[in-house]
Amino acid sequence: MMTNTLLIIEDEALLGAELARYFKKADWEVNVVDSVQKAESYLREQNLDPLVVLSDMNLPDGNALDLLEKLKPEIDSSEWIFLTGYGSVADSVRAVRLGAYDFIEKPCSLDRLNLLVEGAARSARAQRRVKLQTEAQNSQYSIESLLGSSPAMTSLRSMLKQVVNVPFSSLIVSGETGTGKGMIARILHYSGVRANAPLVEINCAALPRELLEAELFGYEAGAFTGAKKRHRGMFEQAHTGTLFLDEIGEMDLDLQSKLLKAVEDLRIRRLGSETEISVDVQIIAATNLDLVEKVAEGQFRRDLYHRLNVINIRVPSLREHKQDLEQLVPQFIAACNRKSAKNVCNIPEATWQAIKAYDWPGNIRELRNVLERCVLLATDQTLSTEWLQLQTPQAASSHSMPRSDQEGLFIPLDGSLSLHEMEKFIIQEALNRTDANVTAAARMLGTTRETLRYRVQKYHLKCKF
Ligand SMILES: Nc1ncnc2c1ncn2[C@@H]1O[C@H](COP(=O)(O)OP(=O)(O)OP(=O)(O)O)[C@@H](O)[C@H]1O
Ligand SMILES: [Mg+2]
Repeated sequence: MMTNTLLIIEDEALLGAELARYFKKADWEVNVVDSVQKAESYLREQNLDPLVVLSDMNLPDGNALDLLEKLKPEIDSSEWIFLTGYGSVADSVRAVRLGAYDFIEKPCSLDRLNLLVEGAARSARAQRRVKLQTEAQNSQYSIESLLGSSPAMTSLRSMLKQVVNVPFSSLIVSGETGTGKGMIARILHYSGVRANAPLVEINCAALPRELLEAELFGYEAGAFTGAKKRHRGMFEQAHTGTLFLDEIGEMDLDLQSKLLKAVEDLRIRRLGSETEISVDVQIIAATNLDLVEKVAEGQFRRDLYHRLNVINIRVPSLREHKQDLEQLVPQFIAACNRKSAKNVCNIPEATWQAIKAYDWPGNIRELRNVLERCVLLATDQTLSTEWLQLQTPQAASSHSMPRSDQEGLFIPLDGSLSLHEMEKFIIQEALNRTDANVTAAARMLGTTRETLRYRVQKYHLKCKF
């Protein structure tokens, strides 16, 4: 739809034509009507949503103010300017009360009128922008979309409400997998002052070190083999907006140093370039690892940790706020119903018990996926336990026990292996059992191919890609 539409309501044919000619020249899409009734049909039935309405007060079939009053709740994104006759003070007062942008006494110069129309257009555009923005935010990325009325979630929300109002330079969101870290990063961006600038997201575990560096800082053509064209890195792409570094704990130590420098100086250099570029970015880093522990182990730079950790948002695991299941379960089921045109509305006591007894190691994401499966496979209105397929708490806790060689593996907890050696050992074992097939090994380890590939490189293991 044209954004520069002007509706003129004027019954004096000559004046109407003159105004139309003038504003068409000024690049407006102009429509002229000569009665209240036609104006109403134009605004309501044809749904034409003009940016500005320029209206006479008294028309042959009524008063345009009555029309404004009647339509106001529906057409709140147009600005109205009234042309008044001499001495109609009462009408002018009413116009302003009804939220008209302004009024001007006839006869008036077209240039003055034009200034008024331009001002009204700016105001209407600003209102529309704000409206669009708030609509988008409210639906998807508002703080309120973070469900849960437990003390843990309530205090998380109130913390976020404070944080979106301060221009933080960097912040860490930490929490187990599936707790909503990604969701929170988006909420922080889209509810904050940088909402209209880009949010650029990168998963630090998904790329090997060299690629990650090239993605973050960009490169010039010929910077390395395969760099055919200049590439703007994520820092540049996120300029004036937010850079979301997911799984920051997986970043290579020496890349961490480069990141620290970039964050401190707010300047970057593309690979293969001599010139530094200033960037204005806010950083949100997420991790499901204990960074303090990683710092203690020498796996994460202490200075980078302190630099990023200006604000720390800890997202609770679902185990810590199981009472929110009461709210989460029906909401997720309702959402799945809408998506799949089902009508699951009955949750038997046994199902509830199973849901509440379970520990939800995959947190809210796991809950959502399990419920989605149940709704999709439901044959009637009941959420049956059959498709929950949750491990009983006992079976889940036996995870840590050494099991038969076929399904699990034995790791000595006698201090002979470091955590990293254990990880390497586990991955090596999974690769052995899958004939070095990364996809199969990733499935076995419950991780993604990207993450596994990254670790395979990190530990210099051999596999088929
Ligand atoms: N409090 C909440 N209310 C509603 N939905 C939530 C809430 N927390 C998480 N979710 C939903 O759970 C899913 C997982 O969230 P998200 O992807 O943000 O988790 P994550 O912490 O980033 O996980 P990972 O560490 O695996 O990347 C998403 O679909 C998200 O919308
Ligand atoms: Mg995530």
